[in-house]
Amino acid sequence: MVSAESALKAITLDLKKYLMKPATRKREVRLSELKEYFSNPEAADKILSSGRDPTIYEYYEFAVEEAAGHLSLGLTTIYPGKVGKEYFMTRGHFHLKPAAEFYYGIRGRGVLLIQSEDGRTEYVELKPGVIGYVPPGWGHRTINTGRGRFIFFFAYPSDAGHDYGIVKEKGFAKMIVDERGKPKVIDNPRYASST
Ligand SMILES: [Fe+2]
Repeated sequence: MVSAESALKAITLDLKKYLMKPATRKREVRLSELKEYFSNPEAADKILSSGRDPTIYEYYEFAVEEAAGHLSLGLTTIYPGKVGKEYFMTRGHFHLKPAAEFYYGIRGRGVLLIQSEDGRTEYVELKPGVIGYVPPGWGHRTINTGRGRFIFFFAYPSDAGHDYGIVKEKGFAKMIVDERGKPKVIDNPRYASST
């Protein structure tokens, strides 16, 4: 048997309730916390002024310790919805160290968007069963382009660190919007105007 004190860890992904146990952290991110990351903050204000503050995404994370050599594992759920035309998405970040990450699609439809430091972007549809690999040095964000919850597993080196500054200031070079019921990748005007 594996106890909490064991060197060997056994972590369970509950694929009916979409829970991860054990977790060292569970976090819910609501629109009020994320509104500046969307390209249309007025649309976010409109939702918030109606008295709603929807959960955009939540995640479980299991980190043994944030030390070199360890991995952090997690399960993220992004809820369906839009702010203006832009789909609900994670904040997105770069790692402070050149550390890779991978995402494994479990449920729903979504996109993994990555961006190099010089602004090149690539993306992949993260359908159930698809693994998206983020190379070291690339920023990353996930976007729910479907009508239901978008759920995926991730893993990255525990000491990677997170840099949200560039993303907060400029966003990603591309954004994914609903165009007559279908996702469309377009240039982010805020990114273009800040370079
Ligand atoms: Fe990351």
